[in-house]
Amino acid sequence: MNDVQNLDEILASRQDQARRPVEPCTVIIFGASGDLTARKLIPALYHLTLEKLMPQPFRIVGFARRDKTDESWRTELREALDQFSRTKPVRDDVWTSFAANIHYCQADMADPAGYEKLKALIAGFPDEKLRKNLLFYLATSPSQFSEAAEHLNAVGLLTRGDNGMTSERLVVEKPFGHDLASAQQLNAELTRFVHEKQIFRIDHYLGKETVQNILTFRFSNAIFERLWNREAIDHVQITVGEKLGVGARGGYYEEAGAMRDMVQNHVLQVLALVAMEPPVSLEAENVRDEKVKLLKSIRPMTPAQVAENVVRAQYFAGVVDAELRPAYRSEVKVKPTSNVETFVAMRLLIDNWRWSGVPFYLRTGKNLPLGASEVRIHFKSAPAILFNADKGGKLDANSLTLRLQPNEGITLRVNGKVPGGATELRPVRMSFSYDSEFGAYTPEAYERLLLEAMAADATLFIRRDEVEAAWGIVDAIRNAWVGKNLTNREFYAAGTWGPFAADELLARDGREWRNPQPQK
Ligand code: BG6
Repeated sequence: MNDVQNLDEILASRQDQARRPVEPCTVIIFGASGDLTARKLIPALYHLTLEKLMPQPFRIVGFARRDKTDESWRTELREALDQFSRTKPVRDDVWTSFAANIHYCQADMADPAGYEKLKALIAGFPDEKLRKNLLFYLATSPSQFSEAAEHLNAVGLLTRGDNGMTSERLVVEKPFGHDLASAQQLNAELTRFVHEKQIFRIDHYLGKETVQNILTFRFSNAIFERLWNREAIDHVQITVGEKLGVGARGGYYEEAGAMRDMVQNHVLQVLALVAMEPPVSLEAENVRDEKVKLLKSIRPMTPAQVAENVVRAQYFAGVVDAELRPAYRSEVKVKPTSNVETFVAMRLLIDNWRWSGVPFYLRTGKNLPLGASEVRIHFKSAPAILFNADKGGKLDANSLTLRLQPNEGITLRVNGKVPGGATELRPVRMSFSYDSEFGAYTPEAYERLLLEAMAADATLFIRRDEVEAAWGIVDAIRNAWVGKNLTNREFYAAGTWGPFAADELLARDGREWRNPQPQK
């Protein structure tokens, strides 16, 4: 037993050594007055301080237009932290030392003078690394990304490091463009001022423990990977379900829809991790190479194939958790005739050696009965002999479910004999739960992502060719919808698992969706 523990410790510490040290750095947040800063970024940085993971020293600078002082911004952030912190109460001692490192730079993003002011503020920081190791976090609209990069470049705060120099980095939030052409243009504009290696494109799903565990699970266990192919797998289902409607985000959502908001990034990232080949190493470029290869292997669809393989839909009024939800078309800032999709289900094929002929069914939607995301691997059935002969070949096939959120864990479903005289079989489950194994400690995605960006490790961020490949897939589908109004079949009641058409998509193949189960 002791030997096993020792081995565990040795392995764990080796992993730690592989992580790049986090050097003292300054994080400059553009769009500092926004929601993301208050809800996610500051709580994440506070928790990194609490966990003693922040570099020493560090500084956080908020860059935004509204008139505030360091003091008033700190007070505001503290109030937001009390509300949004994942651990409560907020610890006063930790907050006091954390807040002392927070500054506010009142400036307009379009005004060069603001960048001079920022430069002067940074120049006053005591440690050379704080002045040189700069992480610019653009939590703004994408239309402002290049403007900020250009101004930063003009005052010398952001320079293009041609040899992969990454001491000055840009973190950019999604959406990265609104289609392939705009993403390419944005890439071209940003790389005028920085090298690709200095750009960290965020997809917060990659910061989730369970999403990272997909690679760990696949490539640290010998038994599953040898089944992870067309020989053993019948099909794969990926569900990213949300219980919330669009709420106050109608204005943004009208331009996005589920395809751009969820599929282009989160859903395709999960698919890439589930289906990619093993990378040569865990280095950022090797992992990202494999993800890009996978995205490029997804079979492109003609408009006729989109009509056959992709279902879009929009919610109408319905009940979620005993609460009446309005129709999408009645949400604030949504056109009453809107054709924007709040749900998508699709059948994708991956044209490579491993997956040839294995359908991947993906779906995501708002106002579904459960906020739950999972990947379900459906294995092929046992041959129709012995126990399966009795069942007419309908014996439950094995499946492996990776529960990404909530109720995080993994379950393998197998058949077992019901105790008793008769030979009766039923599915039984072998389960692993994060909560019971590791306790309730679940860091927020942004904690991990900020830490990686500070350490200049790009593994969990999206590379240029990756974002472009994902847009290529999404554009082909969206283009097939242009000018087409939603038909009656393309609506679902809030509180249901999408329209009928989504069920038919699988029924045609003799399959059915397995819905995530509520947490017990
Ligand atoms: C965001 C989308 O990227 O992800 C939102 O813009 C969505 O519409 C959210 O609600 C889902 O994230 P999570 O972490 O709650 O699954």
